[in-house]
Amino acid sequence: MKKKIYVTRRIPEIGIEMLKAKKDFDVKVSPYDRVLSSREIIKNAKGCDALLCLLTDQIDGKVLDGIGKQLKIVANYAVGFNNINLEDAKKREIMVTNTPGKLISKSVAEHTFTLMMGLAKRMVEADKFMRFGKYKGWGPLLLLGSDVHDKTLGIVGLGNIGIEVARRAVKGFGMKVIYTDIKRDKNFEKEYKAKYATLPELLKNSDFVTLHVPLLKSTQHLISTKQFKMMKKSAFLINTSRGPIVDERALVSALKSGEIAGAGLDVYECEPKLGCTVFDKSYFKNAQNLIITPHIASASTETRSEMAEIAAKNIIVALSGKTPPNLVK
Ligand code: DGY
Repeated sequence: MKKKIYVTRRIPEIGIEMLKAKKDFDVKVSPYDRVLSSREIIKNAKGCDALLCLLTDQIDGKVLDGIGKQLKIVANYAVGFNNINLEDAKKREIMVTNTPGKLISKSVAEHTFTLMMGLAKRMVEADKFMRFGKYKGWGPLLLLGSDVHDKTLGIVGLGNIGIEVARRAVKGFGMKVIYTDIKRDKNFEKEYKAKYATLPELLKNSDFVTLHVPLLKSTQHLISTKQFKMMKKSAFLINTSRGPIVDERALVSALKSGEIAGAGLDVYECEPKLGCTVFDKSYFKNAQNLIITPHIASASTETRSEMAEIAAKNIIVALSGKTPPNLVK
């Protein structure tokens, strides 16, 4: 009998082709280019051996039971896996995998830098200034920004992405790096002349703070009112990890009161909603010291294709009875 695979949304073709190339696989892809409800996932994936899902799909015990006891693997098309209830999967002996490839860390590091540079050089403001015909001639004080070289970058979370950000910061921009993580990495410290710090020390001393931790109970609102107060008034916060790591209400109040200089966000607390906990929602539309992008840090053709290959490979290996390469433990 053929093994059934359900893919909850169209992903780059290469991954689908890898699955379809397996003669004993029956692959179905959702025909809609939108997020499916849990009910739709259950209905469409019922009886499947493998589910290839996205970070926008909420996968819990109810969904897993709805799909059925034959389900062996949930292959998430993302590095983050906070959309999957790991305990529920473990209880049912269902494997969960993610897609930490070689390219994604570099793509996310590039996006992190894009936000950093955009804030420092006031790129969005400058672009609007030109488009709205405000440029009347060169001026010595026109749109003064900040430099990035020789500044201190605080990296919160030293996984693959954090390391790629550090590499660009030190080798490309001559920045100083301090970092915090649950464990120290002495080799990293040596290679990048980086200093280990506690979170409060990092916040006090950084000109740019960039977040690269997974979303866990312990990292929810890791950056809130107390933490903003510790930061320099001239500092910028960058978040390309997961929205709920930053308390958006506290962020807006820190930006409004000038407690920090600006923020670059690619992720949001109630994605895709903007500022769901914030009283003054128009702030996101009008603030000059904020650059916001729609969760596209990994959105390059190369990276998204690699993610599709990795997710497909995880399924192929798991359904052959072996341990998939990117098992989330
Ligand atoms: C991830 O892989 O977790 C990213 O957020 C997807 O863009």
